[in-house]
Amino acid sequence: MAASRKSKKTASKKSAAANTRAAAKPAARKSAAKPAKKSSNPLGLEKKVPGQFDTLQEIALAAWRKMPAPVWEHLMGGSDSEMTLRRNRASLDALALRQRVLVDVRQIDMSTSLLGQAMTIPVFPAPVGGFLSKVHHEGGPAVARAAVSRGTTAFIATAAKPSLEAAQQAVDRRLVFQLYVRGDRTWIEGVLDRVKAAKYAALCVTVDRNYYGRRERDIVSGLPVKEGFGDQSYQASLNWKDLVWMKERVGLPLIAKGVATAEDAELAVEHGADVVYVSNHGGRQLDHGQGGAEVLAEVVRAVAGRAEVLADGGVMRGTDVVKMLCLGARAVGVGKLLGLALSAGGEAGVARMLELMEIEIRHVLGLMGVTSIKQLGPQWLREVPVLGTPSSISAYPLLEDAVRRGR
Ligand SMILES: Cc1cc2nc3c(=O)[nH]c(=O)nc-3n(C[C@H](O)[C@H](O)[C@H](O)COP(=O)(O)O)c2cc1C
Repeated sequence: MAASRKSKKTASKKSAAANTRAAAKPAARKSAAKPAKKSSNPLGLEKKVPGQFDTLQEIALAAWRKMPAPVWEHLMGGSDSEMTLRRNRASLDALALRQRVLVDVRQIDMSTSLLGQAMTIPVFPAPVGGFLSKVHHEGGPAVARAAVSRGTTAFIATAAKPSLEAAQQAVDRRLVFQLYVRGDRTWIEGVLDRVKAAKYAALCVTVDRNYYGRRERDIVSGLPVKEGFGDQSYQASLNWKDLVWMKERVGLPLIAKGVATAEDAELAVEHGADVVYVSNHGGRQLDHGQGGAEVLAEVVRAVAGRAEVLADGGVMRGTDVVKMLCLGARAVGVGKLLGLALSAGGEAGVARMLELMEIEIRHVLGLMGVTSIKQLGPQWLREVPVLGTPSSISAYPLLEDAVRRGR
């Protein structure tokens, strides 16, 4: 996290934060114009248009430079002491990839599918709700278009603006709708009927949010985050039987998002989940939980082929995606990275992020000597000691350096 950038308490402090960052920008532009001086912007970020970022790090750097501090903290932070957040990264960093050489890797097949729909890459934008409209005027439709343009699906969150209908109407492909329970049964039924009418492909119910995680960065900065309306105790009362009537009501395949144990994977399958989605909400809900990559293998074992398995948590790189696939995920979601890309470059930024992911995955597979993601499995992984301090930015050393320097 941006340790050098203090959280701000009030709106005026928020704009002070924005000013602090703005103050860094003119210096960066000035030095880009006068190369004789020591450059504070060695990457020339200001010159790049969103679709032309060359690396994922540049997307993250551009987003960091652009976002007011409390918004950045909201995106990149987790709950409480942020142990789950850090374990997401640590659990990925604790795995090394094995490589085989002298394999003809001119052709590499990284296509997969979700519930029978083809995906040209095994990566998709995870549901990210109200945040999208904090950094982009359109939110849901922009993410939907970017995902479909790269041959993948998008999960459209309940809180995504302007409406669930607008996101689905923006593309030809049927997307996944993600439900947050923000009201009572009547409210849920109303949403499910709209999801069905809008012709979504599947319903994803997020099951790890019966209480809203205490994200202390937001509490301290005073960032207004809408938690819901109506009877919020309904959210806390949700149980497995509710999944059954929700699936029946909407008449679509069901994805249970937020499963983190073999026991719950078993229950999810028993209660009709077609897809079990391993997630700890990017470390934003239960703190001191295990990392996503840490629990994936036990969930895959428990599901035993009876449902499809998706995963997320700390994924920032093609190597991370490949590791999750080796552990048994069919495809992998990105949350924070989606927020960074939308903030850095809008729709084009998200499309480029997905393209860069594709480029990275192709390179990783080629260097591993793998010609199809179907060949991946645990045999490609070894457990290793974690190097450095895992955090939500530790996959990007250039960003870490910039944050440390404060610019
Ligand atoms: C800003 C933000 C908003 C999110 N909003 C939602 C949401 O509306 N619904 C949901 O199921 N998950 C939500 N999540 C969790 C993501 O879907 C995903 O599980 C998580 O971000 C994956 O971890 P990562 O951020 O390390 O990639 C959100 C995550 C972030 C960062």
